[in-house]
Amino acid sequence: MKPMQVGLIGLGTVGAGVFEVLRRNQEEISRRAGRSIEVRAVSRRDIAKARAMVGGAARVEEDPRALIRDPEIEVIVELIGGYDLSRELVLEAIAAGKHVVTANKALLAVHGTEIFEAADKKGVIVAFEAAVAGGIPIIKALREGLTANRIQWIAGIINGTTNFILSEMRDKGLDFDVVLKEAQRLGYAEADPTFDIEGVDAAHKATIMSAIAFGIPVQFDKAYVEGITQLSATDIRYAEQLGYRIKLLGITKRREGEGVELRVHPTLVPAKRLLANVEGAMNAVVVNGDAVGTTLYYGKGAGSEPTASAVIADLVDVTRLATSDPQHRVPHLAFQHSQMRDVSVLPI
Ligand code: NAP
Ligand code: HSE
Repeated sequence: MKPMQVGLIGLGTVGAGVFEVLRRNQEEISRRAGRSIEVRAVSRRDIAKARAMVGGAARVEEDPRALIRDPEIEVIVELIGGYDLSRELVLEAIAAGKHVVTANKALLAVHGTEIFEAADKKGVIVAFEAAVAGGIPIIKALREGLTANRIQWIAGIINGTTNFILSEMRDKGLDFDVVLKEAQRLGYAEADPTFDIEGVDAAHKATIMSAIAFGIPVQFDKAYVEGITQLSATDIRYAEQLGYRIKLLGITKRREGEGVELRVHPTLVPAKRLLANVEGAMNAVVVNGDAVGTTLYYGKGAGSEPTASAVIADLVDVTRLATSDPQHRVPHLAFQHSQMRDVSVLPI
């Protein structure tokens, strides 16, 4: 069978990881997908760097739309981030009948409804495992593994940068700014790190999980969002003395007859709890369902190859599903537009 041809837009921390892992594990990945997966073309602004990175293994384009226009490309992988250009490119790719894989939680939390509707109309897939909790397959768990459940609540450490900052401040007594710079150097932080430290990134992710878990439209604007910038080393020390650790948690909860709670804020977690002991850039998500009870998902929540792992898992899924009957695909969000309720999303 003809290889699945991929267009990779964005070759930064995550894009470079995707390119490298696909190259390194080409054989296993293609076997699991049932079809070879090839990166046909890549795009980034600095094309000299792109050429140095991919050698002759893929075509390099300065204009990302050249990838969307390429009739041989079946899947566009969007890894540039942001809301504006990424929205245009994703919608154009969908309109051109291409499947999309993205790690862009900001885009989906704000424009998800428009994007999923466009994809459903066109009969293409938008896959986004890497958008929440990096390498942890939490989207798959919510949509597939826990599909029998009425989800009651989700709580998690879903931003690696802030968890890294809080851990390093506590363990090494380092200053906030020093640790933030290190998180940026390690590729954990967003291009605009205020999204991380002000809780916005975690709220994007909580919004996406909330939509899937509770069958509501994505409503980032209704979330209560508070980051870690008001915390001092003294707060962290006092919490420790009282037997707690401060963690930035994303929480979403079903409130029977009322709506859905959606919030991100620093939380005192008893030091003996599992979540209190999640350190560095690791993420952990706890999901409670009526049938399964409480389940825990743990792993690297940020960084080049952990995130690439999730992006490539989506590429494998898309490759498998692209040849299957569209009727049997997992829906983008678990709601049917005809059944959408007017949901009030409550702050604390
Ligand atoms: P990044 O390192 O800043 O890389 C962004 C890439 O996009 C760069 O290669 C950049 O090219 C390219 N780009 C930007 N504007 C472009 C344009 N107009 N045309 C073509 N290319 C353009 O970002 P990242 O950390 O890889 O993140 C990418 C996405 O993954 C974001 O949505 C982020 O939220 C998400 N994500 C990141 C992580 C993580 O751990 N880093 C984890 C999960 C999800 P130049 O460098 O040449 O300018
Ligand atoms: N900036 C994000 C974080 C990247 O620190 O968690 C992973 O989504």
